[in-house]
Amino acid sequence: MKQSKAVAAGTARLSYADSTVELPVYSGTAGPHVIDIRKLYAETDVFTYDPGFTSTASCESSITFIDGDKGVCLYRGYPVDQLAAQSNFIEVCYLLLYGKLPNQQEMTTFDRSITLHTMVHEQLAAFFRGFRRDAHPMAVMCGVVGALSAFYHDSTDVNDPRQRDIASHRLIAKLPTIAAMAYKYSIGQPFIYPLNSQGYTENFMRMAFAVPAEEYKVNPILAKALDTIFILHADHEQNASTSTVRLAGSSGANPFACIAAGIACLWGPAHGGANEAALKMLEEIGTPDRIPEFIARAKDKDDPFRLMGFGHRVYKNYDPRAKVMQKQARIVLDEVGAHNDPLFQVAMELEKIALKDEYFVEKKLYPNVDFYSGITLRALGFPTSMFTALFALARTVGWIAQWKEMIEDPHQKIGRPRQIYTGEPMRDYVPLAKR
Ligand code: SDX
Repeated sequence: MKQSKAVAAGTARLSYADSTVELPVYSGTAGPHVIDIRKLYAETDVFTYDPGFTSTASCESSITFIDGDKGVCLYRGYPVDQLAAQSNFIEVCYLLLYGKLPNQQEMTTFDRSITLHTMVHEQLAAFFRGFRRDAHPMAVMCGVVGALSAFYHDSTDVNDPRQRDIASHRLIAKLPTIAAMAYKYSIGQPFIYPLNSQGYTENFMRMAFAVPAEEYKVNPILAKALDTIFILHADHEQNASTSTVRLAGSSGANPFACIAAGIACLWGPAHGGANEAALKMLEEIGTPDRIPEFIARAKDKDDPFRLMGFGHRVYKNYDPRAKVMQKQARIVLDEVGAHNDPLFQVAMELEKIALKDEYFVEKKLYPNVDFYSGITLRALGFPTSMFTALFALARTVGWIAQWKEMIEDPHQKIGRPRQIYTGEPMRDYVPLAKR
């Protein structure tokens, strides 16, 4: 079992009414210190209040660290832009799961294990038939990934490290197969089985784009770009969907059901659904001359419109993933001959204007990982409706690494927040005849 690595860093004193409580403060490797309030309610009879958890650390983690002011994102200490430039997604999966870069033997063994889990139970294909062909792929992914728990419910003892490992490998391996099946089902084409001779991302592209009627040759430049995009989306501290997976897992729920919960949360346009929303926004803007109109709407408090792909709870500087995404966008657009894609021109112009606008400067709103991903994924051949499903495919390794860390945390207990109650005071029931 993992021991805490937080270091005592003094105490904080909190006084309220006639009580004063001393609370221990801890520091980590980097980032803000934390005030441990676990005994606060017992000693003062009050709760803290932090809707949206803007000032709350929900757990101790050693997986990913984000420095929002410096625009830094580290996976197990390695900068995400270095991994994007020098590593590959399967190696990053190993890193996130096991905390270190693998040697050749470890890499070969891990890669083989993932490959051998890429097929899904043949019965799983039946679940797709229940959906209409025009069902959103994220609705399909929620349902089918949740259904995986029916296939492994009796072989997932979350307290058995070996079974946790197998569940992790199964999820990392099967998400591309299920995402490709969701895409094929939506366009009425037959499912394509995985091919063990292919690499992880090449296999996914083949399952998504090949047809039985002819040979399919993966474009290595496009496969490398998509593999890099998967690296950028792999994990991101305690974001909404990861926190959902942790909370679901804290009850001891089946890891497949927990990942389905994460997929459901990621779907929201404020979170992983932003890549789909950002492309739709760029299509609505259409041409650079309409940008000022949309910038004005984004600044108008009475208009719910926001610049999709802009802003972030943590990054108050440029999202380092957005920089790499922009580079991948250029590579893919050039490779597919769409370097003059008008939406890319609009995106570049929108970024330039927004970053000079005092509203965005003052509120520290920069492009995030979702701003350029839609343009790139569309150029790779995916429909807009598949963008968030691809995000879920890549984020599964982060979710399951965080789930494993939570289960192995000796301090872990079921998550059960409290509230400030502002409803009716206690009152007696009034029979209908007297109302
Ligand atoms: C992802 O958490 C993660 O790490 C998520 C993620 C990951 O990898 O898991 O990084 C992936 O979800 C990226 C974010 C994708 N979402 C979008 O691009 C949607 C558009 N962005 C916004 O909805 C917003 O920026 C959030 C949701 C991303 C962050 O919201 P916060 O932290 O709650 O910030 P906020 O809503 O309090 O905004 C602060 C201010 C507000 O103005 P005031 O109320 O202070 O006057 O900035 C404004 C907001 O109105 N603002 C925007 C804006 N984002 C924030 N105004 C215009 N356009 C925007 N995009």
